[in-house]
Amino acid sequence: MSHATYSQEINFLNSEKKIDSIISLLTIKEKVDMVHAQSKFSSPGVDRLGIPELWMSDGPHGVRAEINWDSWSYSKWTNDSITAFPALTCLAATFNPNLSADYGFSIGEEAGYRKKDVLLGPGINIYRTPLNGRNFEYMGEDPYLASKMVVPYIQGVQKNGVAACVKHYILNNQELWRDKINVEVSDRALYEIYLPAFKAAVKEGKAWSIMGAYNQFRGQYCSHNELLLNKILKEDWQFDGVVITDWGATHNTKQAALYGLDIEMGTGTNGLTTSKENAYDYYYLANPFLKLLKNGEIEESVLNDKVRRILRLMFRTTMSSNRPLGKMNNQEHLDVARKVGTEGIVLLKNEDSFFPVNPNKKITIAVIGENATRPMTVGGGSSELKAKQEISPLQGIKERYKNANIIHAMGYASGPSAYGRVLPSKFDANTLKQEALEAAKKADIVLFVGGLNKSHHQDCEGGDRQSLELPFGQNELLEQLAKVNPNIGVVLVSGNAVAMPWLDHVKGVMQAWYLGSETGHAIADILSGDENPSGKLPFTFPKKLNDNAAHYFGEISYPGDGINQVYKDDILVGYRWHDTKHIKPLFAFGYGLSYTTFKISDVKTDKKKYSKTDKISVSCNIENTGDISGAEVVQVYIGKPKSEVKRALKELKGFCKVELSKNEIRNLTIAIDASKLAYYNESISDWTLEKGDYIVYVGNASDHIVEKVKIEIE
Ligand code: BGC
Repeated sequence: MSHATYSQEINFLNSEKKIDSIISLLTIKEKVDMVHAQSKFSSPGVDRLGIPELWMSDGPHGVRAEINWDSWSYSKWTNDSITAFPALTCLAATFNPNLSADYGFSIGEEAGYRKKDVLLGPGINIYRTPLNGRNFEYMGEDPYLASKMVVPYIQGVQKNGVAACVKHYILNNQELWRDKINVEVSDRALYEIYLPAFKAAVKEGKAWSIMGAYNQFRGQYCSHNELLLNKILKEDWQFDGVVITDWGATHNTKQAALYGLDIEMGTGTNGLTTSKENAYDYYYLANPFLKLLKNGEIEESVLNDKVRRILRLMFRTTMSSNRPLGKMNNQEHLDVARKVGTEGIVLLKNEDSFFPVNPNKKITIAVIGENATRPMTVGGGSSELKAKQEISPLQGIKERYKNANIIHAMGYASGPSAYGRVLPSKFDANTLKQEALEAAKKADIVLFVGGLNKSHHQDCEGGDRQSLELPFGQNELLEQLAKVNPNIGVVLVSGNAVAMPWLDHVKGVMQAWYLGSETGHAIADILSGDENPSGKLPFTFPKKLNDNAAHYFGEISYPGDGINQVYKDDILVGYRWHDTKHIKPLFAFGYGLSYTTFKISDVKTDKKKYSKTDKISVSCNIENTGDISGAEVVQVYIGKPKSEVKRALKELKGFCKVELSKNEIRNLTIAIDASKLAYYNESISDWTLEKGDYIVYVGNASDHIVEKVKIEIE
């Protein structure tokens, strides 16, 4: 898709001069007003000078419906239904940065049309445990993959004069106790695992805003954290945008003033939800801040810096003279949503070529499972959407399989989605099960569409999952279904890994994520073979919970003791742990099948010895050896077998998605900066590139390496 853009940088240069003159015209009170909320999702401007309000909206999968001024309930507008894009786990699974650019551009257009200045997304917290209720909003477990995917998203959004707000900075890797838990993590893990995607978002993506996380890091809340915000973000990375709190994440006026926060949002002052007059004056960065400024305890330059950043953001967005008007719910956006969906679906198992299921056959298909019809844009917390359309999997299958006789049974039921609590289902579990078994008996094939959903303790904000297992009796149901009809394939709708005790008893499994408006179409595209799957897992599926590093180290590592948490897994997150400790996963990071087959061969590097400023060119042939066209993701990992520090066996350093028609063979080159092989050296607080031998691993999954090449750094 073409991304028309406008010339923000010219605006920007002129605006820097204007900003100083505007600041000189503002009173202290006007400036203090600008650094905190005036409603749930806006902060005030200055009427007298024509400075507009700043309007924000969630993110990250679509522009959220309008919310009341002072309460969390929806305003019930009739013109705020939008396009729901696939969840970010799916976007990451495409391994396709160009699609991320289309996604960002489209969602930015929708935000612009809805007159939003700041889109509260994308989310890039690292997938550390499969229990984190919000993994579906993020881009997986690997810092390199998340970095590559987040940058084009941000650039796409911002081409529309809408600021991306990258969240949640940082270490909000679980929902349990997120509002208070203090995370302790080594500098190495911080710099090598948790910071890189944020750094890329700021330095390469040039994000105009960033959201502080709820939790604490080394004893200080992330929304006003001297090291994270003042030192790393604003000094080291030269971030010139706005730091916005997560909603209600401010705890202290002095720290908020001095440790890097620019706009305070969502603080739960007394009366906020009951619209007490001037409730927002009670914010930490409102009257209490004004008082400290007036009595000289805090210098006005501190306030001016915040206002300068806010005005800069305004010149980039709402005060830009040629900001595009935006677009909403157009066919192009639906096309992008569908494309991301089809490219992100991951084929995990395909015994006897169970998939694709031929759409021309006159067969009976039993579609079983609650997720075949359950709307998934509803629930999940702040990423919830009011989608103009959400094609269910069942609807998509019915549309595509016109020749087939489709029967549907729920099979199991969960209750309705509610924030922070689990509501029981009104259905009788046994009746549902019997109906499903009857349907399965009558069918030629069974498609089980299950997984998790957007309710509390599932894939949902504000709580974590309670186990790795599929909920609502699905494991038992699947075993029984497979007994009455072994011709069974599973479509998993989730944003998280699940255990699969029934894996040997089903023929096929595909990971279908949460796909938004075009869910059913995208699933039917892959099921029918209209599109060939090419998604790859952006995180590891462990066989059992304890195989995951965060869980291996016991309670203090996950979920912590309620006050503190120590990331004992350190740098060995996800596949880094499985690889290094030789723990076989159920499905590995980077894994995903296709309806065709590929062969990687002739792996080479351009040289054998490199200096630290060199680029390492890794080349290989990739051939489509099957009968249909398809796309494969060639992945380059690098490891250092003998090192002065603990290392993961290998780390992803490059990837490339290539589309090949049948029998096509192509040579491709992936260039990697030698400097990227450095580790973060805690003793000098800087990166060190060790000399010596490294191994370059090339394959199409982290556990499927085709060839290895030894290189040396001199
Ligand atoms: C979430 C943020 C969200 C904000 C506003 C918070 O609870 O953590 O991701 O942007 O609410 O809805």
